[in-house]
Amino acid sequence: MTTNPLTITQDDARSVATGALVLGVTQTPDGPLLAAGSEAADAAFEGTLAATLAALGATGKQDELTRIASAGRIGAPLIVAVGLGEEGRDGERSTLESLRRAAGSAVRSLTGGTTQSIALSLPARDAAEVEAVALGALLGRYTFTRYRSASNGTSSGSAAGTSATPDLQLITSADGAGAAVGRAQALADGMNLVRDLVNTSPSDLYPETFAAEAARVADDSGLGIDVLDHDSLASGGYGGITGVGQGSIHPPRLVRLAYRHPDATTTVVFAGKGITFDSGGLSLKPPKAMEAMKSDMGGAAAVLGALQVIAALKPKVNVVGYLPMAENMPGGGAQRPSDVITIFGGKTVEVLNTDAEGRLVLADALARSAQDSPSLLIDVATLTGAQLVALGPRIAGVMGSDDDTAAAVAETARTAGEQAWPMPLPAELRKGLDSPVADIANVAGERFGGMLVAGLFLKEFVPDGVRWAHVDIAGPAFHEGEAYGYTPKGGTGAAVRMLVQVAQDVADGRL
Ligand code: BES
Ligand code: MN
Ligand code: ZN
Repeated sequence: MTTNPLTITQDDARSVATGALVLGVTQTPDGPLLAAGSEAADAAFEGTLAATLAALGATGKQDELTRIASAGRIGAPLIVAVGLGEEGRDGERSTLESLRRAAGSAVRSLTGGTTQSIALSLPARDAAEVEAVALGALLGRYTFTRYRSASNGTSSGSAAGTSATPDLQLITSADGAGAAVGRAQALADGMNLVRDLVNTSPSDLYPETFAAEAARVADDSGLGIDVLDHDSLASGGYGGITGVGQGSIHPPRLVRLAYRHPDATTTVVFAGKGITFDSGGLSLKPPKAMEAMKSDMGGAAAVLGALQVIAALKPKVNVVGYLPMAENMPGGGAQRPSDVITIFGGKTVEVLNTDAEGRLVLADALARSAQDSPSLLIDVATLTGAQLVALGPRIAGVMGSDDDTAAAVAETARTAGEQAWPMPLPAELRKGLDSPVADIANVAGERFGGMLVAGLFLKEFVPDGVRWAHVDIAGPAFHEGEAYGYTPKGGTGAAVRMLVQVAQDVADGRL
């Protein structure tokens, strides 16, 4: 597990030993206003900081960064003022998100340069604010340097070996700050693990190595783990996973992780799509559409990351995670459009499009989850391009066995700081999946409502009577644009916070 050197200090912001002091600024009609936490530093400037910031062009808009040399007036040589946006513009939650984003932006802007340490003096008046600032900072500090040669300085300035990952200090005297920072560190570790896994080259991360990584996490975290290899999958009747994997030189795996609480009375099951690379198979994708397809295991990574966090936070619920892993390739053994396969449990599928592979590996996992008698079953998957069309790149689509469950899970995600929105599963779209030869086809002839059609396909494999939600994170799992807030380019860590919150809400009887 990675260590996150974030410590709490009650030192005065004027005297704290650090390379940079981060302050918050809110946006008001009368110009930038210093946020809570800025008082001591402002006093060292005789109350002129806001006017100085305004003169430098600062407005306080979200994530805006303004640097001031402190010229010896405080211990830190550099002050970084970060915008928090309009205060409380949509209530408390967006304020917590604006803290996460601001902390992330500030720390990210100081990471990979010469700054060795950062002190955050953002609003941190209660445990929720402390957690938000700590989490944003720890996520903003993330860099992925595995493939950077030490000599290769790049425009991003993050050459391996030379870049500084600064130590963090959080200035607060809030009650419960220690526990809040502990929770933030656990969540950041889980999300940064997911980012690493998603960002790893698919030549290095394939089912065998992904499963080995899951075993390492399970070992470190005290989780139970079972790994089914290709032969066990074939003899066990997992036709979706073996069908998708058969065109690759890397055989598939099914990983089952288990977290147990001694006093738990219910079990939650998470299943995550683990396609380590999605070429489309024989229904080959065009080149551009393939470029981000190393991220097609983002759902499985999120389940692994969430279980790592859950093992640290110990909610009173049992949690099982299924990670069906395969590489979808068009090798000579690949499944053919029109092949009929048998999913775990016996239902047959006519594979008309080998690029609709995520639903096949998930079908096995969903059907298998019957053995765990879950009170709630949630799958997370980079499942459809249609999710991006419907909701854009940042908002996950949440479907479910009933609209109330979809709405409740989407709400839980938003509580945890993730954007998600409930979507319907309209019964009339199901007939598009009728097959002339098998129980169901894996694609419909009609492309409209593709995210919902995928959800309707999955619904067929949910064990009878089980409350289920399907979360399509095709967009949220991977960020193609420039970094913003605490979100870097590449793997984002999407769905970890949502899944952890689901486990906690079930443990507390809220879900
Ligand atoms: N992994 C893709 C979905 C995807 C697309 C994720 C873009 C992230 C970004 C999935 O396996 C896929 O190929 N889906 C097809 C389904 C279609 C063939 C019904 C799609 O969305 O085009
Ligand atoms: Mn695909
Ligand atoms: Zn896919």
